[in-house]
Amino acid sequence: AEITYGAKIFKANCSSCHIGGGNILISEKTLKKEALSKYLEDYDADSIQAIIYQVQNGKNAMPAFKSKLSEQDIIDVAAYIVEKAEQNWQ
Ligand code: HEM
Repeated sequence: AEITYGAKIFKANCSSCHIGGGNILISEKTLKKEALSKYLEDYDADSIQAIIYQVQNGKNAMPAFKSKLSEQDIIDVAAYIVEKAEQNWQ
């Protein structure tokens, strides 16, 4: 998956709520490694797939993106999040 393209998808679709890997609506549910591991189901088993599932389907106040983004866009943005989480969003 392409990280640079994932960054563009993130900026255009996610950063309004997740700027800097945070969460403006539910402050503890960030995109940092520790929070993903704690709150996102199956993150420890398969991190990319866990993110793809949530982006496709949404959860509570987070909208679903499966009718807005292509499957490849969602794979790329998920790969970007895993990469940034590994770098602690530095
Ligand atoms: C949670 C990714 C767009 C609001 C999450 C989580 C991920 C994620 C991986 C789990 C984090 C955790 O539980 O610690 C994305 C991606 C987006 C996107 C890749 C763009 C494609 C948005 C937008 C909003 C939003 C635009 C606000 C309108 C939320 C909320 C949660 C969340 C409220 C917590 C859901 C819950 O567990 O109740 N997001 N997000 N997200 N996101 Fe997003």
